Amino acid sequence: MPSNLDQQAIDILRSNDRGGYTVPTARLYPYQWNWDSAFVALGFATFDLNRAWRELELLLDGQWCNGLLPHILFRQNDPDYFPGPSVWCTPNQQNGGGKFPSGGISQPPVLASIVRMLIESGGDDSRGKALFEPMLKWHRWYHRDRTPDGFDIVASVHPWETGRDNCPDWEPGLSRMAVDSDIEAYVRRDTVHSDPSQRPSKEQYDKYVTMIKFGRDVGWDQRRLTNEGPFLMADPGIHFILLRADRDLLALAKRFGREDCASEIQGWIAAAEGATNTLWNPELEAFCARDVRSGAFSCGFSSASALCFWADAGTDDQRAATLEHMRRIQAKVTYMLPSWDPDAAMFEPQRYWCGPVWPQMNHIISRGLAEQGEHDLANRIRDDLTALITKSGFRECFDPLTGEGCIGKDFSWTAAMWLAWLSPRAKTEAA
Ligand code: GLC
Repeated sequence: MPSNLDQQAIDILRSNDRGGYTVPTARLYPYQWNWDSAFVALGFATFDLNRAWRELELLLDGQWCNGLLPHILFRQNDPDYFPGPSVWCTPNQQNGGGKFPSGGISQPPVLASIVRMLIESGGDDSRGKALFEPMLKWHRWYHRDRTPDGFDIVASVHPWETGRDNCPDWEPGLSRMAVDSDIEAYVRRDTVHSDPSQRPSKEQYDKYVTMIKFGRDVGWDQRRLTNEGPFLMADPGIHFILLRADRDLLALAKRFGREDCASEIQGWIAAAEGATNTLWNPELEAFCARDVRSGAFSCGFSSASALCFWADAGTDDQRAATLEHMRRIQAKVTYMLPSWDPDAAMFEPQRYWCGPVWPQMNHIISRGLAEQGEHDLANRIRDDLTALITKSGFRECFDPLTGEGCIGKDFSWTAAMWLAWLSPRAKTEAA
């Protein structure tokens, strides 16, 4: 008999189901989002494995010919969302795009890691095997089209590509760019559906729209977007998630008899291990986002800085310094791990990625810490999320000081993290 919270989580996933794919939450996010769907599959797998695979199959259905897996798939137009398909204006399949309209950028590539988790926890090898080739194409795209000429690190062309939309991490890149005076007037919808004080500012939004306009102006030529676009930052989140996902893809290649790809994937892993130091900010002694062209570092410890454990990356000294930061932050907040450093400028406990705790981040950070033997912090990060959901429900993210829920309600990845990771039932099954 599922507990009350288990049942609520199942009901949220079912009510956000739009026929094989799940929206993150009704109204505010009315489409399929890339890394949301990957996490959501873990939740479905606890009560409907077939539906979990379907989520991932429908996600990969939106892949472009060049391998890009977009951050949003617009299967239908919803005028209640900005910026929708007519703003992105991405190419159709005949012109190198996907089967239906989508965003023209990607999102954190957690998919291969999640497919491996599903398979290793008893999922269906044949459903996973069918996803291998498109996942390989997507990783190839990341390494080929998001590694700027003259650099050896994968970078992001839009803060939304990192999944951590308005984190202060992006200040070095945003402050170097101007708003394009030709962007057309627009009406935001996010501030209608949620509290504007928790959402990005108007100036930030104008810059986000400027980046989209650039992509549109170059016909979404992905190499041009990377090499010539207005924004280019390397993100510890993308770097560590991709490195981990490459390791998981390699394990899947071996499992599925795809040794033919092993040396290519090993090459990506070696390159990423070599590039990890590029993100080490010696002044702060932490892995930080970095503007690729100017070399300027972001100036705070973000939740992505803590993903080095998930990627099994960094030296012993770098890991020790990362743990030190987490202990310092632990003494400042009630709930771990805030998305932005409470000691840094621009910390705001309820503004989106400027402070709130994010469920899916806690999951991969905690798993990474546990894998590397850091059980105290791993448990703290897991137990704090349990306490947050118990206190405030299945919200999009949470205030690390008060535990209040922020932005979206009845949120899919929060429900999924409960079912797959936090529920007493999940813990008994994992034991
Ligand atoms: C916000 C988040 C992003 C997420 C999306 C849908 O844009 O920043 O990470 O994928 O919402 O939940």
